[in-house]
Order: sequence, then C-alpha cells, then structure tokens
Amino acid sequence: MCGIVGYIGHRNAYDVIIKGLKRLEYRGYDSAGITLLNGSMNIYKKAGKVSDLENFAEGKDINGSVGMGHTRWATHGEPNDRNAHPHKSNNGKLSIIHNGIIENYATIKTELIKRGHVFHSDTDTEVLIHLIEEIQHKANVSLEEAVRLSLHEVVGAYAIVIISEDQQDELIVARKGSPMVIGIGEGEHFIASDATPIIEYTKNVVYLNDSEMAIVKKDSLVIKNIENVVQNPVIHELEMQLEMIEKNGYDHFMMKEIYEQPKSIYDSMRGRIRATEGLISLGGLKEYETKFKNAERIIIVACGTSWHAGLVAEYIIEEFARVPVEVEYASEFRYRNPIITENDIIIAISQSGETADTLAAIELAKSKGATIFGICNVVGSSIPRASHAGAYTHAGPEIGVASTKAFTAQVTILTLLAWSLAQIKGTLSRTRVVELLTALEAIPAKVEKALTSNEQIQKIAANFKDAPNFLYLGRGFNFPVALEGALKLKEISYIHAEGYPAAEMKHGPIALIDENMPVVVIATKGSILEKTISNIQEVKARKGIIIAIVTEGDTEVKKMADYVIEIPDTEEALVPLLATIPLQLLSYHIAIMRGCNVDQPRNLAKSVTVE
Ligand code: G6P
Repeated sequence: MCGIVGYIGHRNAYDVIIKGLKRLEYRGYDSAGITLLNGSMNIYKKAGKVSDLENFAEGKDINGSVGMGHTRWATHGEPNDRNAHPHKSNNGKLSIIHNGIIENYATIKTELIKRGHVFHSDTDTEVLIHLIEEIQHKANVSLEEAVRLSLHEVVGAYAIVIISEDQQDELIVARKGSPMVIGIGEGEHFIASDATPIIEYTKNVVYLNDSEMAIVKKDSLVIKNIENVVQNPVIHELEMQLEMIEKNGYDHFMMKEIYEQPKSIYDSMRGRIRATEGLISLGGLKEYETKFKNAERIIIVACGTSWHAGLVAEYIIEEFARVPVEVEYASEFRYRNPIITENDIIIAISQSGETADTLAAIELAKSKGATIFGICNVVGSSIPRASHAGAYTHAGPEIGVASTKAFTAQVTILTLLAWSLAQIKGTLSRTRVVELLTALEAIPAKVEKALTSNEQIQKIAANFKDAPNFLYLGRGFNFPVALEGALKLKEISYIHAEGYPAAEMKHGPIALIDENMPVVVIATKGSILEKTISNIQEVKARKGIIIAIVTEGDTEVKKMADYVIEIPDTEEALVPLLATIPLQLLSYHIAIMRGCNVDQPRNLAKSVTVE
C-alpha cells in the first residue's frame, strides 16, 4: 500500500513521477505528493488523487531532474493535506516518502519532542525524517550514514526514499517488508514500488532486498545492507510490456481484466500441460515431489480474493489428491500459534506477492520447518522470493483493485497442482487426467462464450442497482464462487453482500429474505444440483428474487428463477472458472450504474503491505 516513485537523471522528474504515480494509484489514493530538487527543494502535496496534485501544482515550479512522489493509503493520520507525504525534517532540508508502518514511532516522537522537534502531521513517517535529521547533526555524519543508523532504531516495515536539499545529486532508498524496485537507465535511475512506472524507460531492474539501502545517483547505484556491507545487485530483465498496463480502449482496467481472462487462463497453463498425453509439468513442484507425496496435510494461507481461490483448491485437492487441506486467513494463522510440522506443505497464494500478513505467515511456517509453495502473479515479488518453490500465475499485471483475472489464474494453477499431486499419489488414472486436461484446455474458449452474456447481465444489473443487500449462494466447488461474487459486489459497489453455502442459508440468512432481496444462486449441473434447487425453492417460498447462474441447456432451474444467466457446460471441478465470470460482470455493471469508481474503490488498496 502506498505507491512510491523516484527519479534522478536528465528528464523532467515531475513528468516521470506523475505518470508513475498514476500507474501506482491502485496502491492507495487518499493523497498524493511530490518533492522536486531544482536548486531549492519544492514540495507539493494534496489530499485526493494524483490528478488533484496535478491541479494543485499547476503554475508552480515543477522543474528539476531529481525528485520523488507518493500516493497514500492512510494508516496513521487521516487523509488530508497535512498528513500527505512527503514530510520534511525540522530544518526543512530533508524530505521523505514512506510505504509501511513505523511501529515504535510514538516512543521516538516523545523523545524527539523533548529535544525540541516540532511535528506538523499525525503520521509515523514524519518521525523517521526528524530522527534522521537528529542523528545527522548529533553524530555529524553523512546523510547516508544517518539514514542507516536511524533504520537501526525503527521497528516496523518501510520502503523509503529520502532527498536532501544539500545533496542534489542523490536519492537514498531503503526497504524492509515493503517492496522497492530500481530501474537502471542510461545516465538515469528510476525507483518505484513496482515495475509499472519503470517499464516504458528501461527493462533492467534491481529488486531491493529487505534491510538493504541504495545510494542512487544519475550514473551510479550502490546497494548496501544496513550493516554497511556493500551488496552485489542482481539485474533482472522485465518481461512486462507497456500495453499490459494500459486500458487499451476499455473504460476501466477492471473490465479490461475481466475480458482478458480467456488469455490469462490460457497463459497460466501454457507450457505446463500436454492434454493428450496426460502430462502436467509444474516446474516448482518437481524438486519437492517427495515432500508433497508424503505430506499428511496441506495448509493454504492467503487473504481476500486469493483466500477464495484457496477455498476452491481445498475442494479440488481433497477431491482428486485425497490430501486433507486447511485454508487459513494469513492474518489469523500468524497470530494463533498454529501447529506446524516439518511434514507440512504451506501453499501461499497472493496476486501481488507482497501482502504483509501472507508474508508473515510464510516466515512463521518456514521457521517451523514447513515447505512453502508460493502461487503469485507479480514476478520477483517478496512472497515468491520467500518461498522454497512455487508457480507464477502469469496473468499479466492486474491494475483494477478488485481482483478478477488473478483469481481465475490462481484457480487454474491450483487445479493443475491438485491433479499433479493426484498423479504423484496415484489417486487419478491417466485416462481421467487426459479427460480433465482436455476439459481444462477448452476453458479459455468457454470463458469467451460466458463473456457474451455481458449485455444481458448489464440489463439485469439495472434492476438491482439500488438494492441495499445481496445474498450469494453456492454449494461444493461453487461455495467459494459465491463468496467471491459477494466480495466483488461489496468492494466496488458498496452494496452489502453475503456469500453463503446454499444449505447453510436456513441457519440465519433466510431471515433476511423478502420480496426485495436479490439472491444470486450458482446452480450449475453437478452432483448436488438437486440440493441447490431445494434451496432455491426455499428462497422462492419467501418471495426472494432469484438470479441463477446455470449450465447451458438447463430447464429445471429456469422454471423457478427470476433471471437466468447461462454458462457453458464443463467438468464439475472447473465450474468456478466459468461461474465467476458473470458475477464479476454483474458487480461491475451495478457499480458503474451507482457511479462508483470501480478501479479505485474507496478505502481499498491492491497491495496490502501493512498488517
Ligand atoms: C487486497 C486486494 C484484494 C486481494 C487481497 C489479497 O485486499 O484489494 O483484491 O485479494 O488484498 O492480496 P494478494 O495480493 O495477496 O492476493
């Protein structure tokens, strides 16, 4: 959360930074700010979006080829101009932007106030720049050294950039627990929370590791750890293309990403299966095959939508590989002293690869000797680097805050993992694997078909844009789909929605049902359709409105539902990949009709790097 961009080189820093901040706005959009060096140090900051900052900066001095910018997701201090980053030291010479939380800021602040420091914001960040100033003067050391010494004093997570008016040729960067990428150009360097602001200038990047700092000049980059030992940076080449992070004619990233799913699902299985031969090859699994084979259980840790993908996996892994699976909210798991043994496999699922709670859950499990398998979308992010093995989803950059294509790509990989594990354990015959893989190969085309219901769904959405509540029901493989459908609606339309296992409805939510209550039921062909139909009857008997997701050619559900959306037929275990599509579209259209910003829903951020 919070997006950081820095630049030093020969271009106009303002242009690079503003453009970069817009790319990072998914990380937070409570306020934005910028520091520019142009002889003097100019700081502009404003509550609201990056566009508000641009309006504010209009007509002001925006020259200079060194600078840094920040887009904020508020933790300490409400989102207003005062709390917007950058923050300044007391003498006004130093400026900082920060992503993360300084947990011991209150103690440090009390001490600094005693020494005469005056604070101008309610943030934890401001404390750090005052501390750096204090150390610099007290110990009479260079800025770099003062930053290094300060970082030994702070507890918490940070990605920071620091600029000094007295040292116009360098940026000091550091990270612990929050991501930071440095782009290497010709006579210029770029700094950012992820690679999206960098990609149009250079493909060569260095990912800063935890407890490392960088001294970044136009023509040089020195990386040290905070013990002052110089590190040898590994230069990675970005695979991302610029078009991947642009809207390409769509009104919103979310819609673009929904429509990308035939491709992203295909990309996530590309090169990993040979259907006719019944072959699945997940590189990351190879080395740990024996561990997986002998594992007595698998624990899945994740947050948000990724947690829902984990729930789908629970059904699929248990069904095919017959290994017990537990699905945990990473935030709960890490604090409840869980029982973990060396025989456990932990699957960590994360689109961003940076979610603080998921990372911490991994570290905890690792410390107890468990094997960590990471499933992430962002290449080079922290979770894959902290995992023993893993598989990238290859869905391409996901910019819309509400996750769509990352979810279906995660489910695809998890399905392959389940089937592969089933092969290793001998619980799935070759003939059956061939059938299943053939069905999976057909999914991208079927998603394409499911997307043709868009206009019909838009019409249905118009009837429910003012509904105050929604209920989503599903059973078996479709129960997590119901949860995900409800989450999508909540996130982007602000309508209260609950997802429930259809049969569990009668233990509570049924009390909510009346003639105004829209109930979305995933009632696709499969072993428990009859049971789901009974649940639909229960809703109808109480005059609830049924919006049913059914399998093409269905006749039964159609008789009782008020609205019906068809999806193509497939293997029961693969239905989540198709049933999710109309639910994404339904949320999108309802949110748009309510005038909501679907790409940047209020209060949310895409990459949650605070716990
Ligand atoms: C945030 C995002 C969600 C996402 C969750 C987990 O809440 O808004 O879309 O599902 O974090 O993120 P991860 O990157 O770990 O999948």
